[in-house]
Amino acid sequence: MLRNQRFGDTGLNVSILGLGAGQIGQSDVPESVASDVLNGALDLGVTLIDTAASYGLSEERIGRHLGHRRDEFVLSTKGGQAIDGYPDWSAGSLSASIEQSLRRTRSERIDVYFLHSCPVEVLRRGDLQDTLDQAVAAGKIRIAGYSGDNEHLAFAADSGRFAAIETSINIADQWNLRHVVGDGTDLGVIAKRPIANAPWRFDQRPIGNYAELYWQRLRDLELDPRDLDWAEFALRFSAYAPGVHSAIVGTAKLENLRRNVEAANHGPLPPAMLTDIDQAWQRVGSDWASST
Ligand SMILES: NC(=O)c1ccc[n+]([C@@H]2O[C@H](COP(=O)([O-])OP(=O)(O)OC[C@H]3O[C@@H](n4cnc5c(N)ncnc54)[C@H](OP(=O)(O)O)[C@@H]3O)[C@@H](O)[C@H]2O)c1
Repeated sequence: MLRNQRFGDTGLNVSILGLGAGQIGQSDVPESVASDVLNGALDLGVTLIDTAASYGLSEERIGRHLGHRRDEFVLSTKGGQAIDGYPDWSAGSLSASIEQSLRRTRSERIDVYFLHSCPVEVLRRGDLQDTLDQAVAAGKIRIAGYSGDNEHLAFAADSGRFAAIETSINIADQWNLRHVVGDGTDLGVIAKRPIANAPWRFDQRPIGNYAELYWQRLRDLELDPRDLDWAEFALRFSAYAPGVHSAIVGTAKLENLRRNVEAANHGPLPPAMLTDIDQAWQRVGSDWASST
């Protein structure tokens, strides 16, 4: 069974492997497959499911297929923009976004609600943090968080206004880990894109694909997973990175989810592998910002 651990000082506990529910939101993923992956995740011991208002059918599928199991998992979702009738990143769009997520996910309360990557200029205003505080006070959300990267994330993490962060952390994307998460923080920390979008799937540079930058970075880093397969190598790095509480691998395949559970249960990478990854990063990656 997957290990659960404290999610920073939030009072919540989360499994070291979470489910990134982006993929099951795609309309070409059949309803029955989405149901199998969502229910399979809980059956395999996953206790954190991460979604967003912008992930297609994801929120409503979580409501439809897991509404009856809502007390078995921590639900994180994100929003704050793209709401009809409101300017993006306004108190109105954020409040409406929260209401929409509650309805779609069939939840009485959202456990962790992230601002979905608004820029630091928006964060400096402070009004969205006030709106999140009001939603916490009203019992609509439990924990207010920020999801994003680089200087935006650094500002959010330092601000004292959020209890959790979600950020890109993987073998090819270590800026947030090294500059913000450090060796631990009171915040709950979720590693997104934890297997770097699996760029080893592509023999040729996947031009225009989400994984393109990571594909190039993996070549530059010249890492060697030795006897592990790439997914396991990548996952054990991010899931056990210091300060990370859960790594939310995205998948619409139950078989990959099972493999990820097995890989996470193998524990941290051996120290010699971690040294190799560190040295490769010092050699070519230390100037790399996080991919957004
Ligand atoms: N806040 C944000 O702005 C933001 C941005 C990006 C991601 N996220 C969150 O983070 C989650 C994960 O990020 P991500 O999906 O972009 O990247 P990821 O988890 O690093 O990689 C997902 C990709 O890996 C494949 N995969 C999963 N397990 C595998 C395995 N064992 N072997 C081979 N391939 C495997 C998946 O394909 P299959 O479906 O074929 O398994 C999918 O294409 C998202 O679902 C979302 O919840 C948040």
